[in-house]
Amino acid sequence: MAGRLIWLTWMSFWTHLIFQLTCPALSHQMQAVECKRKSFPLATSYVCVCNATYCDTVQGISNTESGMFVSVTSDKDQHRFSKDQQVIAVHSNITNKNMLITVNSSEVYQTILGFGGAFTDSATMNILNVSSKVQDHLLRSYFSIDGIEYTTGRIPMASTDFSLGEYSYDDVPNDFALQNFSLAKEDIKYKIPIIQRSLAMSKKPIRLFAAPWSAPAWMKTNGQMSGKGQLKGQAGDKYHKTWANYFIKFLDEYKKNNLTMWGISVENEPSAGGTDNKWQAQYYTAEMEGDFVKTDLGPALNQAGYGDVNLMILDDQRLFLPDYVKGVLSDADAAKYVSGIAVHWYFDFFFDLASRLTATHNMFPNMFLLATEACNGYLPDSPAVVLGSWERGESYSHDIIQDLSNWVAGWTDWNLALNMDGGPNWAKNNVDSPIIVDAKNDVFYKQPMFYHLGHFSKFILPGSVHIGLTTSKDNELESIAFKLPDGKTLAVVVLNRFDEAKYLSIHDPSAGYINAKVPARSIQTYLWTSGQSQQ
Ligand SMILES: *[C@@H]1O[C@H](CO)[C@@H](O)[C@H](O)[C@H]1NC(C)=O
Ligand SMILES: *[C@@H]1O[C@H](CO)[C@@H](O)[C@H](O)[C@H]1NC(C)=O
Ligand SMILES: *[C@@H]1O[C@H](CO)[C@@H](O)[C@H](O)[C@H]1NC(C)=O
Ligand SMILES: *[C@@H]1O[C@H](CO)[C@@H](O)[C@H](O)[C@H]1NC(C)=O
Ligand SMILES: *[C@@H]1O[C@H](CO)[C@@H](O)[C@H](O)[C@H]1NC(C)=O
Ligand SMILES: *[C@@H]1O[C@H](CO)[C@@H](O)[C@H](O)[C@H]1NC(C)=O
Repeated sequence: MAGRLIWLTWMSFWTHLIFQLTCPALSHQMQAVECKRKSFPLATSYVCVCNATYCDTVQGISNTESGMFVSVTSDKDQHRFSKDQQVIAVHSNITNKNMLITVNSSEVYQTILGFGGAFTDSATMNILNVSSKVQDHLLRSYFSIDGIEYTTGRIPMASTDFSLGEYSYDDVPNDFALQNFSLAKEDIKYKIPIIQRSLAMSKKPIRLFAAPWSAPAWMKTNGQMSGKGQLKGQAGDKYHKTWANYFIKFLDEYKKNNLTMWGISVENEPSAGGTDNKWQAQYYTAEMEGDFVKTDLGPALNQAGYGDVNLMILDDQRLFLPDYVKGVLSDADAAKYVSGIAVHWYFDFFFDLASRLTATHNMFPNMFLLATEACNGYLPDSPAVVLGSWERGESYSHDIIQDLSNWVAGWTDWNLALNMDGGPNWAKNNVDSPIIVDAKNDVFYKQPMFYHLGHFSKFILPGSVHIGLTTSKDNELESIAFKLPDGKTLAVVVLNRFDEAKYLSIHDPSAGYINAKVPARSIQTYLWTSGQSQQ
């Protein structure tokens, strides 16, 4: 016995020594780097500045201590991903019963696919317009374990308004064999290298999905990529066959660069080509989109071995739900090729209509819903870029909570990075982005939008499931609950858009009460381990 005790003492001595030797490195690694704040005139909050030697980081939360909860807070006035840990209580301490939230992890909804942004020509050009150390900080901010760990990435097929001009992958008229198909210099010099670096930085698989804005001008009724126009002819003819083959060539070329698409959408905003659109667009009614999928695109994908690439329809505003989707999917021969429905956020604030997402899910429960584009600053009377706008951050988290509360499985932002003018955009459709690059000063600014998105992307990992949450309709806070992929960690994201703090109590019947103060104008992610034994 005594010998064993001495042995244990020695072991303990060595363990402590080793721990002390490795500890500084360990604690350094676990210490997040703080935001370097900068305030701009007229902004309601601030941005975090990153340069070649400095950039704020965020650490994940791998294990919550039993009986404790962790809260991560960002707010208008002082916090960016500030962490706190407290005991889960036996009783609620709130006086206003409307502020009680009860989670039910047996009530399960959709599984989360991920959160991310888009690798546009402009975004990737802006990223490459700063020094390589600043580029690394920018990509790390989005994709690494020190960042908000994006897991989705949208890739335009050829040009969009966020390009320096119009081009397609085959601008040789009447090249129906697509002999002259080739990726553009924008793919080779900007997009592909940045996507490859992003994937290499990520510890998690990233779901990449592509969408075209317009076919080559020579395939279209108006002879242009922009404006009011559609593919010439009809489904099944040589224009439609060629256009379907163009998708296959694109998938092949990206695969040659080790970039495999998880998904593809038939067309970005098919409604836009029905108007005199100022940038690349291509019109499809629901019937036309369904016919093209059934007759041309679906069979072409299958035949080329891309039958497992998730084909998405709509890729347009909520306003068109559920009619457009019904129009496409009511034809079973089209529906069999389709996996999901992509939605954009424009005018959500005006029309609301979130219940249409649930209505669409109820009609087509086997199709996932995915939010594929959003940005601020797109309205004619609002400035493209507002550095430090807290409201623009709130508009993101508000929309994410609303979407995800209505069966949407993920949310993908628009441009990953824009310049100080919200461009470049050849059609002068400049907008805002969670990261604004100030190339002249070799720095970039992380906007409140970045942190609002990060409260989801960092903690609500792909494979999480949306679970039940009940509260009073008079609860002024917006919230949503998830069970993480480990099957035991629960998470609630809470948004307070009011100018005063609110007192909240989250009840998990298997663990207790999370009594909390939700600061004024804040977004928080709460995480804790759910009890296993009780209900
Ligand atoms: C980068 O930012 C840090 C923190 O603000 C600052 O101390 C440092 O001087 C900056 N470096 C350069 C090259 O501007
Ligand atoms: C939790 O959800 C399950 C599944 O929907 C349901 O059967 C159960 O009644 C719910 N529990 C409470 C307390 O509402
Ligand atoms: C298109 O490709 C064909 C076959 O490779 C080639 O002969 C032709 O010169 C190309 N046309 C253009 C405009 O590049
Ligand atoms: C693709 O990946 C393979 C294996 O990792 C590598 O050898 C090859 O160079 C890569 N190709 C490209 C174009 O990046
Ligand atoms: C790159 O930065 C320079 C300033 O350093 C600017 O003049 C140029 O327009 C930027 N390029 C893009 C694509 O924004
Ligand atoms: C309830 O407890 C939490 C955690 O200790 C505290 O922050 C909050 O202020 C309390 N709420 C009320 C209404 O006293």
